[in-house]
Amino acid sequence: MPDGHETLLEIEDLSVHYRSTHGDVAAVSGVNLSVRRGEILGIAGESGSGKSTLAVALLRLLRPPGYIAGGSVTFRPKNSPEVDLLNLDERRLRVLRWRSLSYLPQGSMNSMNPVMRVEGQFRDVIEEHSSLSRSQIDAMIPRLLGQVGLEPSVARMYPHELSGGMKQRVLMAISIALEPDLVVADEPTTALDVTIQRVILQSLADLRSAFGVTLVVISHDMGVHAQLVDRVAVMYEGAVVEVGDVRQVFKQPSHEYTRSLIDSIPKIGPVATPAPVGQSEAL
Ligand SMILES: Nc1ncnc2c1ncn2[C@@H]1O[C@H](COP(=O)(O)OP(=O)(O)OP(=O)(O)O)[C@@H](O)[C@H]1O
Ligand SMILES: [Mg+2]
Repeated sequence: MPDGHETLLEIEDLSVHYRSTHGDVAAVSGVNLSVRRGEILGIAGESGSGKSTLAVALLRLLRPPGYIAGGSVTFRPKNSPEVDLLNLDERRLRVLRWRSLSYLPQGSMNSMNPVMRVEGQFRDVIEEHSSLSRSQIDAMIPRLLGQVGLEPSVARMYPHELSGGMKQRVLMAISIALEPDLVVADEPTTALDVTIQRVILQSLADLRSAFGVTLVVISHDMGVHAQLVDRVAVMYEGAVVEVGDVRQVFKQPSHEYTRSLIDSIPKIGPVATPAPVGQSEAL
C-alpha cells in the first residue's frame, strides 16, 4: 500500500438506483471510498443523502426496488482471499456474514426478538455462523456483555427489560461475537439521549481498542463523528463530496455543504466540537 495503510474494503464507482413509477432514482452515484483496516470511518450526510443505501448495497442486503447500477466492492478479510462482494454467490456470502462482516441496521434496537432472552439472541447468531458448542457459546456471553459495559445478569433479560442504550450495546456485543474484520453500524446513537449516546460511542471506541475491529459508523450527526471517528466521508445527494481526517475536515472543510453540517451541531457553552471519547473514559 503506497500510503502505508492496508485497505480492508474498497468501494469503486458504486451506483445504486431505486426503480419507481416515475423512473429510476439514483440514491448512490459513483461512490469511491476505501476503508482502512483498524480505522473508524464515519459516513456523514443529511437524511436522504444515501448513507443507508450505500451500507446495504455494499453488504449485499439491498432489496427491490433497489438495484446496483454499477461498481465493485472489494473486501479483504484476514486469512482468506479478497472477494468482490457484489459478485459473490450466496453460499460464500453466508460464510462471511457475522464472521467477517457484520451489520447493525438503522433502528435495529427495535427489531430484537421480544420473546427471546438476550442469551438466546447471542446463541441464535453464533450457532448459525460457527461450529461452537452451546456451552462454549454460553461461556462467551458474559465476556461479550462485559466488553460493552453490561453485567452478566443482562443475559437472562428480555428486550423489554432493557433501556434503548442497553439494547444497542447488546446488539454491538452480538455483532463482534465472532470477531469480524468489519462492523457497519447505521445510526447507532440516533434516538438515544446525549448521555447514553456518549456511552455507546465509548463502547464502540473500546471495541476497536480491544479487538482491532474496523468500524464504519453512519450518522447524520456531525457531533458523533467529532467524538468517535478517525476519518469521515461526507455524502450529499448520493455522492461522497469529501473524505478526510476528521480533525482536518472540521478545521478546514473543503466543501460548503460540509461546513453547513458542522455548523448545525448544537453549540453548548464555548466548545464548538465535542471532545473525542477517551480510550477508557469512566462513564
Ligand atoms: N426502498 C426505497 N424505495 C425507493 N426509494 C428509496 C428506498 N429507500 C431509500 N430510497 C431513497 O434513496 C435515497 C437515499 O435514502 P437513504 O435511506 O439511503 O438515505 P440516508 O442518508 O440513510 O437517510 P437517513 O439519514 O434518513 O437514514 C432517498 O432519496 C430515499 O428516498
Ligand atoms: Mg439511513
